[in-house]
Amino acid sequence: MNVNVCKDVEWVGCVDWSIRDFHGYQTDRGTSYNAYLVRDKKTALIDTVKDVFGESLLSNISALMNPEDLDYVVCNHAEPDHAGALPEVMSKCVNAELLCNKKCREALSKHFDISSWKIREVEDDESVSLGEMSLTFINTPMVHWPESMFTYVPERNLLFSMDAFGQHYASSQRFDDQEPLDVVMQEAKTYYANIVMLYNKPIQRTLERTAGYTFDIIAPSHGVIWRRHIDKIVSAYMDWVQLKPTAKVMIVYDTMWKSTEIMANAIMNGVLEQGLDLHVTLYNVRATNMTLLATEALDAAAIAFGSPTLNQTLMPQMAAILTYLSGLRPTGKSGFAFGSYGWSPAGAREVEVLMKKMGFDILREPLQSQYVPNDAMIAECYEAGKLLAKKAMETVEACRTPGCPQGK
Ligand code: FEO
Repeated sequence: MNVNVCKDVEWVGCVDWSIRDFHGYQTDRGTSYNAYLVRDKKTALIDTVKDVFGESLLSNISALMNPEDLDYVVCNHAEPDHAGALPEVMSKCVNAELLCNKKCREALSKHFDISSWKIREVEDDESVSLGEMSLTFINTPMVHWPESMFTYVPERNLLFSMDAFGQHYASSQRFDDQEPLDVVMQEAKTYYANIVMLYNKPIQRTLERTAGYTFDIIAPSHGVIWRRHIDKIVSAYMDWVQLKPTAKVMIVYDTMWKSTEIMANAIMNGVLEQGLDLHVTLYNVRATNMTLLATEALDAAAIAFGSPTLNQTLMPQMAAILTYLSGLRPTGKSGFAFGSYGWSPAGAREVEVLMKKMGFDILREPLQSQYVPNDAMIAECYEAGKLLAKKAMETVEACRTPGCPQGK
């Protein structure tokens, strides 16, 4: 069903209520693929949808106009969740010209047969008039792919922000003031952590570049459209690009016969004993999905990772989360490794190697317990927890002043 965004602009996208796995990202609340129709003397479709929703998109367009009369299709991003329906759209919208930048054209040519498409490459900051309204294209490389761009309608103070400010959030309503804001913000944070955390710097540059623009509406390619809480989402992005730490400590572990779990609990008791105003959470990696762990890691000040030794290395699920996090690069954090072993103390050491690869400030040598931790080992874990808490609070304090060292 189409929804009016503002004068002469309609949402014509599709809601994917049932998707739960978005290339590994656990989408518990589904998602939407937002496409928009701008109607003036000339008409423009802003982005398409995932291929399986192509027919639905065309039906939404047909409810408003004859697709054969469409003048432009803008492709802000070549990833298949937004460009997947382009072949179907270009075959039905026979008179439409595709507007995209040079890199996008190259990317599209590696996904589809584009030989029959009319394509016009647009430059950074170029404007195309539709009549009363116009479209200005803003290249935003690596937000989220090299060819990504925003499209801005200055006459409506309307930004089509593509993946930026998006959420994997299926909803019956289209605007931020029509859905529970705490849920929407949590999904925006989850999206940021799992899709674009690696690209903090390009996002920061984009925020700086667009700081002089006026936005009454920010219309992303996923989730709800921002119109009432624009300040809140932009402010959250300013924190997230810096990986600004909050008073939060995570203890993330796997365990075989509960020895590493005993160590994890002792570390947590040490954190709590410090009596600081800290939020501390304990996660067994085999009971927790990676999407949640990455989201929590985004603004954690300190993290301890624990794994017993299995087959002379760390446990596979711990290897998976550390590999996933090292790709997302949550830099500027402190922590240490811990874990039990039988005859080969390899698990915790290998955890530490991966933490160093992520740029962690390693607070102490790995805590290693041969088989079940004895009283001395539990006491050492407890002291390590106190150290973790102390360092977390120091990091948060350091970031209360300008020049926060996080995210460098
Ligand atoms: Fe929603 Fe980078 O695609």
